[in-house]
Amino acid sequence: MRLPVTTEQFLTEYWQQQHLFCPQALPHFQSPITAEELAGLAMESDIDSRMIWQDSGVWHQQTGPFAEHAFQGEMPWTLLVQGVDRYHPGVSSLRNTLPPLPRWRFDDVMVSFAKDHAGVGPHFDRYDVFLLQGTGRREWRIGPYCDDETPQLQENGLNLIPPFEPAESYVLEPGDVLYVPPGVAHWGLALGEAITYSLGFRAPSVGDLMGRRTDAALELIPTTSLLEDGASLRSPSRPGEITIEHIANARDAINNALDALDSGQWFGEVITEGDGEPDHPYPVAALQGEQVSLHPTTRIAWREREDIIDVFIDGDHCEVPLNALGHLIALCSGEWILRRELAGTSEKLFEALCEAGALTDEDGA
Ligand code: SIN
Ligand code: CO
Repeated sequence: MRLPVTTEQFLTEYWQQQHLFCPQALPHFQSPITAEELAGLAMESDIDSRMIWQDSGVWHQQTGPFAEHAFQGEMPWTLLVQGVDRYHPGVSSLRNTLPPLPRWRFDDVMVSFAKDHAGVGPHFDRYDVFLLQGTGRREWRIGPYCDDETPQLQENGLNLIPPFEPAESYVLEPGDVLYVPPGVAHWGLALGEAITYSLGFRAPSVGDLMGRRTDAALELIPTTSLLEDGASLRSPSRPGEITIEHIANARDAINNALDALDSGQWFGEVITEGDGEPDHPYPVAALQGEQVSLHPTTRIAWREREDIIDVFIDGDHCEVPLNALGHLIALCSGEWILRRELAGTSEKLFEALCEAGALTDEDGA
């Protein structure tokens, strides 16, 4: 993806801060999916899809699966299909065009098809998104920064914000990209029929991280570890009183214990966990092709320690020798590698990936 600023500038001045219009970020871009294929996916019961339209000033939303006649509605409607990268290798490979951001921050690719004049209304999202124009043209209006205090209009399951005075607007053509940070109001209106790819990111909740770090430490802390008073009793308290020093002493004890017992493993587990069971069981016996790559839905992350690599696959942890690093990086970059070579030189990694059903040998791109 070609950005109009350097990667360093993007990461320091734009990412999670302000929107960025990137004309012809993907020159000569050809939409990997057609409107008909997208409609086909929206007819499947296990694929998450929605249709949104406005009628007499009221917003409507209906969830899929849809029957053929649903696409004949007269009002300008938008069809949105979530996680299309799971089902379509061409769409899945779009993630490899993103600027160098941690792989574990990526969530999925939502694809929308909008009829002329359709849009999903003015709103803000909680996550970062790169909006890539696939076919047709779309006008994106960018509004103010919003948060939980911003008044929202709830209509048929949609959270909309009152029409805003757009601070800026851009007309996107195929291959153009608009980066929108969390909280920034936006509203896209199709100028003719249009397909838009939303390359969306995810972020773990701080509450989840806190809970998991604490749980991990609680498993290790001896029950005999008791609060020591240290210097906290040096200034006397009144009968029955809790002083600032008492609380500060307890906080210090907790923080010190958390730091001392923290291996950091909880982090890799949390960020690679999905919402439920991983949906790509791909038994090793089924891998017949010469080349393998990561299954598009595999959540994987790793960290290098002195003489070992911690690998996290769909929330599970394993350790592999350092010599697997090259293969690991290649796989995480979306590359295909020879199955025999992977199994031969990075045996433990290969086994762990097979056990997790994390590999595929089908290149449908
Ligand atoms: C769309 O593609 O119509 C909606 C994407 C968004 O606003 O996040
Ligand atoms: Co949005």
